[in-house]
This record gives sequence, C-alpha cells and structure tokens, in this order.
Amino acid sequence: MERRLEGQVAVITGGASGIGAATAEKLIAHGAKVVLGDIQEDRLAGFVTGLGADAIGCRCDVTKEDDVRGLVETAMDSYGRIDVMFNNAGIVGAIGPMETTPTEEWKFTLDILLNGVFYGMKHASKHMKLARRGSIVSMSSTAGVMGGLGPHAYAAAKHAVVGLTKNLAAEVCSFGVRVNCLAPGLIATPLAAAAVTGDPDGIDEAMSAFIDQSPLTGRAGMPEDVANAVLWLASDEAGYINGQTIAIDAGLTTGSKPGDPNFAEYQPILREAGKSGF
Ligand SMILES: NC(=O)c1ccc[n+]([C@@H]2O[C@H](COP(=O)([O-])OP(=O)(O)OC[C@H]3O[C@@H](n4cnc5c(N)ncnc54)[C@H](O)[C@@H]3O)[C@@H](O)[C@H]2O)c1
Repeated sequence: MERRLEGQVAVITGGASGIGAATAEKLIAHGAKVVLGDIQEDRLAGFVTGLGADAIGCRCDVTKEDDVRGLVETAMDSYGRIDVMFNNAGIVGAIGPMETTPTEEWKFTLDILLNGVFYGMKHASKHMKLARRGSIVSMSSTAGVMGGLGPHAYAAAKHAVVGLTKNLAAEVCSFGVRVNCLAPGLIATPLAAAAVTGDPDGIDEAMSAFIDQSPLTGRAGMPEDVANAVLWLASDEAGYINGQTIAIDAGLTTGSKPGDPNFAEYQPILREAGKSGF
C-alpha cells in the first residue's frame, strides 16, 4: 500500500473514540505520527498503547486554550513539526426547544464545538505559517450546512465552523496552508449511538437505525468514511482544495433520501410544449 503521509505529524482532538480514533489508525497506516488529545484519559491511554510507537496521548480538554496549545506543542517538542491538525472533539450538547435551552448548556456546547476549534486553528496555524505548509481539518456536520438537522447550539456551532474555515483559509492560503472542514451525516460512533439508543456503547443495537436513515440503501456511515476524507485532505492529492466543506453524508444534503426515491415513471416528452403553454 502506498503510504501517503510518510514522515508527517498529525494532531487530533477527541482522538480516543469514534471518528478521531478511526482517523488516528488511518493516518498511522499511511506513515504519520499522531498526537491525540481527549478528556477520556483511560480510554485514550488504552487506545494509544494499542497504536504503538507512532502515537502519543495527552489529556486535553478543548475548552481550555492552554490544553490545546499544550497538545500542539507536544507534537512540536516530540517530532519538530505539525502537518495536520484535526479539530474533531465534540458532543451533542444542549438539546430541546430554544425557549427551554439553558444558557449555561448553550455556552458549554459552543465552548467545545466552536471555541475548541478556534484554539486548535490558532495554535496549529501559527506553526504551519512558519513552515509554509500544513492542512487544518475541522469538524462541522450536515447540521452545519442545513437547518433542522440538529439541536440549536450544535447547529450554530457547526455553521460557525464552516464560516471560520472559509475565513482562516483566506488568511493563510498565501502561506501554503490549507483549511477545510467536514460535514458528516449520521456516522456509527458512540456519540451517534447515544443519540439513537441513549447508550454510547450501543453501536451494534443502533446499527439498523443508522442503516435505515442512510440514503445509500443497506449502508451506514462509518468512522472510516470520515477518516478517508481526512486522509485525502491531509495529502498532496488535495493540494488545491482550500476553504471547503466536504459533505460525507451519502447525498443527504443534496436531496438524496432513504428509501423509495419516488421519481416519476418515464413518459414521452410533451411535444406540444411551447405551443400549449406547458
Ligand atoms: N457521529 C456522527 O453522526 C457525527 C456526525 C457529524 C459530525 N460529528 C462530529 O464528529 C466529531 C466526533 O464525534 P464522534 O461521532 O466520533 O463521537 P465520539 O463520542 O465517539 O468521539 C468524540 C470524542 O470527543 C471527546 N471530547 C468530548 N468533549 C471533549 C473535550 N471538551 N475535550 C476533548 N475531547 C472531548 C470525547 O471524549 C470523545 O472521545 C464531533 O465533533 C461530532 O460533532 C459526528
């Protein structure tokens, strides 16, 4: 297999679980070293041990700028470079109608999903500008490009990630640094399992619901689908891709729907069109 990130260094927040963990495995398989941050310390430690010598794990709460700065500096101190920053950590956050959304929960959700991304962008881009290369990938969502797909705070933060991505891309493009974000649909992870079944460990039980909600019949969205997109955005193959939001949603946000598409049967074209007014 061609190793597309040989010798490169990636920092991933929320790296102990789901999409972050799948991305760590994918990037290592392609020759990268990874520095993973998460608040689930035990889970992270066990995962990093399994990954072997190419991974470092650090406790990192993305709501704390010093933690995120420390995560990036760990990459610089340990490997002397940072090529990829994946701002991935997340939660579903405040749920429910606007009028009953507690302000503290709103702020807490934005602290993780938006401020955490800002800290990652801030501290990674500084080094990448100096190195005149790098790829920043941040986590938005289908709920960040359409209304009605997630709770208010989640949707607001994920839309903001799209905007921040475009703006930072405009700032750092002249330094050879690319900035993009991802908009996954429902992906089979502990976060999504918790949303569907109430149990983050219930991925197997939730799988039929993931499949039913997928526009691609019989096929759920998997963490590796997102990891593949990060790999591509990190690689030279995406060297002219900047400021973009890449949907990984089986076409959900472009009109594809689960189940019967209900398109009309063929009928001959209306030859009288233009004469009759139809
Ligand atoms: N799974 C989906 O359907 C889906 C769809 C669209 C977007 N996303 C986004 O993908 C990202 C990853 O989610 P996932 O589905 O892999 O969920 P997950 O729960 O498996 O992983 C999220 C990780 O983030 C960590 N985390 C939470 N708060 C943190 C904090 N303050 N600091 C550091 N780490 C923290 C968790 O401990 C966990 O390990 C999230 O940003 C989520 O919003 C997920």
